[in-house]
Amino acid sequence: MAASRGAFSSRIGFIMAAAGSAVGLGNIWGFPTQTASNGGAAFVLVYLVLAFCLAYPAFMAELLIGRYGQANAVTSLQKISRNLLHKRFAFVVGFGGIICAALILSFYGILAGWMMSFAIEPITTLLGFNEASSWLTSQSMERNLVFTALFMMLTISIIRRGVEQGIEKWSKRLMPMLIGLLVLLIIYVFTLEGAKEGFEAYLNPDISRVFEPDLLISALGQAFFSLSLGTSVMVIYGSYISKKENLVTLGAQVTLIDVSIAFLAGLLIIPSMYVAQAQGVAIFDAEGGLISGPNLVFDVLPTLFNGMGSIGLFVGFGFFILMSIAALTSSISMLEGPVSFVVERHNIARKKATTFIGIGIFMISALIVLNFDALFGLAISISTVYGQPLIAMLCCVFVGWIWFRNDILNELKQGNDMVEHSLFWKIWPWYTKFVCPTAIAIVFWHSL
Ligand code: TRP
Repeated sequence: MAASRGAFSSRIGFIMAAAGSAVGLGNIWGFPTQTASNGGAAFVLVYLVLAFCLAYPAFMAELLIGRYGQANAVTSLQKISRNLLHKRFAFVVGFGGIICAALILSFYGILAGWMMSFAIEPITTLLGFNEASSWLTSQSMERNLVFTALFMMLTISIIRRGVEQGIEKWSKRLMPMLIGLLVLLIIYVFTLEGAKEGFEAYLNPDISRVFEPDLLISALGQAFFSLSLGTSVMVIYGSYISKKENLVTLGAQVTLIDVSIAFLAGLLIIPSMYVAQAQGVAIFDAEGGLISGPNLVFDVLPTLFNGMGSIGLFVGFGFFILMSIAALTSSISMLEGPVSFVVERHNIARKKATTFIGIGIFMISALIVLNFDALFGLAISISTVYGQPLIAMLCCVFVGWIWFRNDILNELKQGNDMVEHSLFWKIWPWYTKFVCPTAIAIVFWHSL
């Protein structure tokens, strides 16, 4: 199979693809709302520290495993394994990650479908199709099924084309659009009344909250979700990077982009909420915290856009297109995890594998839509609260305790001759062996 494996054709292709995976609804929706409900800038501060000190090393572990193995998550982990027990363990970790990615996609597709339907609504409103508009923004089962299916079709159509023509090409198109839209929206919101107050609320840390356990847990969970850790995705993306590239720098660049876009999204969302407040929209919930979750994106912000008159149609359109793009560059990475596994282990053609797996995941989404109250939250917590941290931790254990130190050094040296003299090399192996697994375990245990 080796000859037919895809690969990223350029450094920027990888950066866009990996940043595309990392930057998603987690950044543009999750991060600002978590910030809003966790003491503003205190959360931002903790998030930044954890993203670089814990998520980045774990992210490097996954990329490195993939680039060494040059294969899907299970095969890559098995190449590191030295005996049967390791191999079994490798299967559990790798396959667990793949299942986790599939499960995340099953609920993520539903959320993305909402974003898409809200993006189309301004168009139907502009055309005067009022009934269509209210259907698009109603939380009906039919609408959810239709738009989840549409979104899955988009995801499938990109992944069917493979790594270079699908993932890389589309990430390179969509990511600049996403950044451009985000910046334009921020500039616009800043001209509105109330934005300044939001800006201050966002950037004034309440330092006393920095060490609250709940805040730490939320920030770490957010950082892991945002870098798509523990789901086989970064292992597989790592496997498509050329051995000539300096992985340490590439990983840092992706982390930086991810964190920066989350930060920018905060500059859009939180001031927007205060603008909405200046227009008479309630932005605090019963407990006095800022409204977060679905109510923020699907009530507060649309009310704000409606209040802007006809320009609000364009702003609303831009905002939900931004959300849809962010979701799409992430969802393709989630589908690539299972697809690469099936293609490489079972010798099934990529197109066929993609379609079947995509439909399979859509069926799970449909099941969730039909039993929304029982299953939606469950799928989220199984995959993101339990699955991701656990598997990310086990990947660190793999690197720290099973992989030969010499092999790690050799892999790190590829494309980076000087790594032995760097701070990264002095700290990282030890860090991944002891600090990362312990810290993840503590936070995980606390969150239970
Ligand atoms: N990182 C994405 C976000 O912030 C979500 C995501 C993309 C993801 N791919 C993933 C999460 C794989 C877990 C696994 O929205």
